Amino acid sequence: MSVRLPVDAAAALPVDAAVTALLTWEYEPANPRMLALYEQAKAGQWNASTDIAWETPVPFGEPLGDDSAFVTEAFEMSSLGRFGRPFWDVFRWEFQSWMVSQFLHGEQGALVATARLVEVLPTVEGKLHAAGQVVDEARHLEAFSRYLREHVPEPYPISSPLADLLGDTLSDARWDVAALGMQVIVEGIAMAAFRLADSSFHDDLIRQIARMVARDEARHVAFGVIALEGLYDEMTSAERAEREEFVLEAADLMRRRFLLEDVWDRLGVARSEGVEFALSNPMMTQYRQTVFAKVVSTLRRIGLLSSSVTDGLAAMGLLGGAAGRLAGRLG
Ligand SMILES: [Fe+2]
Ligand SMILES: [Fe+2]
Repeated sequence: MSVRLPVDAAAALPVDAAVTALLTWEYEPANPRMLALYEQAKAGQWNASTDIAWETPVPFGEPLGDDSAFVTEAFEMSSLGRFGRPFWDVFRWEFQSWMVSQFLHGEQGALVATARLVEVLPTVEGKLHAAGQVVDEARHLEAFSRYLREHVPEPYPISSPLADLLGDTLSDARWDVAALGMQVIVEGIAMAAFRLADSSFHDDLIRQIARMVARDEARHVAFGVIALEGLYDEMTSAERAEREEFVLEAADLMRRRFLLEDVWDRLGVARSEGVEFALSNPMMTQYRQTVFAKVVSTLRRIGLLSSSVTDGLAAMGLLGGAAGRLAGRLG
C-alpha cells in the first residue's frame, strides 16, 4: 500500500511510478568507459558556496548594450518593434529570468530522476556514476536557486510543458525512458543553453554559474550516451517505435516551452502576438535550433535518429543549422 502525504498542488508536483529497485551482487564493473566517467565526476566536484564569485554585481533590469545589428533589426521589423528599445531590454532581462527559473526547475527534475537511476540501473558502475550525478544536480539546484533568490525580483514558476515532461519522464517505469527524457532531452537542451550563456545572458555571475554547470552537464550527457548506446539495436521494432514517439512528444513539449507564453503574459503582450514573434523571429528560431542540436547528435549516437524522428523534428522547425547538418538534411 502506498501512502501519499498531502501536498499543496500549487507548491509541489507528486508523481507516482511503479519502479523496481535493483541490487546487484556483480561488483566488478563491466563498462570501463562508465567507470572512467565516474572517475572524472569525482575529480570534477566543485563547491557552489565557495567556487562562485557571489559578490559579482547583477544589474538586473538596467539598460543593456546593443544587440547585433541582425537581432536589433529583426526586433524592429517585428510587430513588437512598436514598443521601442526600452521594451527590448525588459524582454531580454525577462527572458534571462525565465530561462534561469526553468533551469532551476529542470535541475530539480534531474536530481530526482538521477536518484531514481541509482535505484534502477542494472550495473554497479551505472549506479556509481548516477550517485555522483545526484551530488552534481544538488549543486546545480543550489547555485541557480541562490542566484534567483539574491538577484531576480520575480522568478518564474515551472512552465507547463516542462512540468508535463518531468511528469511523463518520472512516471515511466522503464529506466531507459527516464534516461531519454532527462539525460538526453532536458539535459541536452540545458547544456546547449548554458553554452550560449555568454551571448544570451547579461551579467557575469550567471555566465560563471552556467560555465561551471555546463562542465558537469557534459559528463551527464555522456553518461546518457554510454548507458543507452546499443540498447535500442536490441529492441523489437515496436519497443523502438514507443521510444521514438516519446522523443517526439518530449521534443514538442520543449519546443512549445520556447514559445515563451509565461514571458508574454508578464510583459502584457497578447499570447498570440508573442508566440508569433517567437515562431517567426530569426534569433528565436536559431536559438531553438541551436539548443536542439545537442539532442539531435545524442539521438544519432544512441541509434534513435530514425527517419520518422528526423521528419518529426523537421516538421517542428527544430532542424536548422548544426541540428540540420547532424540529421543529414542540410549542407
Ligand atoms: Fe544539472
Ligand atoms: Fe545534469
